[in-house]
Amino acid sequence: MLKQPVNRALFDEVMVPNYNPQQMVPVRGRGSRVWDQEDNEYIDFAGGIAVNALGHVHPALVAALKEQSDKLWHLSNTFTNEPALRLAKKLIDATFADKVFFCNSGAEANEAAFKLARKYSYDNVGPEKHEIIAFYQGFHGRTLFTVSVGGQAKYREGFEPAPGGISHVPFNDLAALKAAISDKTCAVVMEPIQGEGGVIPADPEFVKGVRELCDQHNALLVFDEIQTGVGRTGHLYAYMGMGVEPDILTSAKALGGGFPIGAMLTTNKVASSFGFGTHGSTYGGNPLACAVAETALDLINQPELLNGVADKRALFVEELQKINAKHEIFKEIRGDGLLIGVELIDSMHGKAASFLAAAREEGLMILMAGPNVLRMAPSLIIPDEDIRDGMALLESAVTKVLMAENA
Ligand SMILES: Cc1ncc(COP(=O)(O)O)c(C=O)c1O
Repeated sequence: MLKQPVNRALFDEVMVPNYNPQQMVPVRGRGSRVWDQEDNEYIDFAGGIAVNALGHVHPALVAALKEQSDKLWHLSNTFTNEPALRLAKKLIDATFADKVFFCNSGAEANEAAFKLARKYSYDNVGPEKHEIIAFYQGFHGRTLFTVSVGGQAKYREGFEPAPGGISHVPFNDLAALKAAISDKTCAVVMEPIQGEGGVIPADPEFVKGVRELCDQHNALLVFDEIQTGVGRTGHLYAYMGMGVEPDILTSAKALGGGFPIGAMLTTNKVASSFGFGTHGSTYGGNPLACAVAETALDLINQPELLNGVADKRALFVEELQKINAKHEIFKEIRGDGLLIGVELIDSMHGKAASFLAAAREEGLMILMAGPNVLRMAPSLIIPDEDIRDGMALLESAVTKVLMAENA
């Protein structure tokens, strides 16, 4: 079959304009390097937005996908399948959870979590216990329920009426949560590190306080670990380094290492409210996705890999500090493990997109987390050489942005 030649210009012609991708089309990747249609090389500090935790085209993931693709692609939930059963067992053995629900994305995992929290309170207390409390700047996906629980009004505006019974309080403000929570609260929803909201870690004392308030009011604690999960912070899940356990945890992104999959994890007690027929997804638990995710989990949930995340972070921070010593452009470097947020100095606020474009021109892929913060979420096994090479490119990009600013 002859493939029609395509280019970036076609995007604007044929795609709904909800995205505005960079002005090149990547065609292949390996490890932490990517090449575009013109064979220009890029170093990837973006990791597909915290997805490609094992880099691009990891041979073990390719082998798992090839093996499963020769056996069975899809069944629906009328039947179960071996990869889904194996993956569920491994997730349960590795976490607080007793039960898993599979879906295809982060938003779907959260949709399931929020529905389950409501249903659990409905079953055990009554319909009045339906209120969800979440945090300003939080991000939980783009379905109507998830943009409503998310704490950024811009993602909801124009799509109202939004589902009711949802309120927001400032992140890391226990007094505000204490004032808002009541016996009508069915769940408190939070990211251990707010990713899209600017890479803002939850204070350890705050997390403990949230758990206590949930217990006092018989509310479920939902951790959205879609960005922080599967090794990103150097723990399999971030909660493991926080001294608290959630009642529901959502996972996606890195779980499939680049193959779409989402999962909601919970306890036996809570799971019982998702009885037969209450919720579902045609593709959830798809054998191809689960076979790849099982292999990704096997590779990531190893002490050597997880411990290596702190070393890689140290190198990232060291290199960023070197750039800052020269250019005094970063106000703060924050986050945990390989979820790195770099806030620009006040006079550069609003300019993160200029740094992204300049970096891309130099051959470096990075992300932003709002208009003031550069974000990096690379492969957890990015070679040190790629970190150093990428930072040299970042420095060139910084120099060019500053020259353009001062011109
Ligand atoms: C914390 C968090 N939750 C949910 C989502 C939504 O995931 P998805 O885009 O797979 O629906 C994201 C995506 O960025 C996220 O970072």
